[in-house]
Amino acid sequence: MDAMDAILTTRAMRRYSDAPVPDELLMQCLEAAQQAPSGGNVQPQQYVVVRSPEVRHALADIYRQAFERYEKCLPEPVFRSEHDRLTYERTRKASQDLAQTIGDVPVHVLFLQPIIPWGFHDEEGVVDIGRLDGSVYPAVQNFCIAARSLGLGTAFTTVIRVYQAEALEVIGADLERFEIAAHIPVGYPTGNFGRAPRKDVRRSIHLDRYGERPTLD
Ligand SMILES: Cc1cc2nc3c(=O)[nH]c(=O)nc-3n(C[C@H](O)[C@H](O)[C@H](O)COP(=O)(O)O)c2cc1C
Repeated sequence: MDAMDAILTTRAMRRYSDAPVPDELLMQCLEAAQQAPSGGNVQPQQYVVVRSPEVRHALADIYRQAFERYEKCLPEPVFRSEHDRLTYERTRKASQDLAQTIGDVPVHVLFLQPIIPWGFHDEEGVVDIGRLDGSVYPAVQNFCIAARSLGLGTAFTTVIRVYQAEALEVIGADLERFEIAAHIPVGYPTGNFGRAPRKDVRRSIHLDRYGERPTLD
């Protein structure tokens, strides 16, 4: 599969079979993650690969509670069309299903971001070089794209951060040293890969100056 196909068909897969994930495929995904760019090439992330059913289910209990709390915070949605409403409802149902079943997904990969000083100060003040998570999320997306190219599904999730302290304790990581940048279930999906709906990119492109609409095609 070429890179463009893999990128365009990587999306949140939230329903998985029980089929085990071969270690050599996981390693390829982790190699792809490690190849991602990071500020100053610091490669700050650690990967906790969870295969133990006990640990997965402990994380799943936390995920479910976090998800239920998050759902209660969601505002009542307003839709521009019936199509938008149906898309939203499908995603909502799939997210709820994942919250109920995530413990059964064969592998979870947690991307840990270290709590380290980042950025600089000089006599003029803060020297803003961007945020540290900007050096972790490219690795997460590389991982997901690599997985897709190997026929594995993933879902990029962060809701477990609602109860991050509890989740870090489950995986034996120190709350003072790490935060959870992403929590990725990995497995063979039961649904099909495909291109997910997005806004037309032309609505977000500006040519040379903000507000100037492009004619790139
Ligand atoms: C930073 C981030 C956090 C996310 N957190 C969650 C999450 O906690 N649970 C979940 O089910 N999906 C989560 N998602 C997945 C998004 O809902 C998903 O990418 C979006 O709906 C588009 O899905 P699609 O590519 O299948 O269209 C997250 C995605 C990102 C990038």
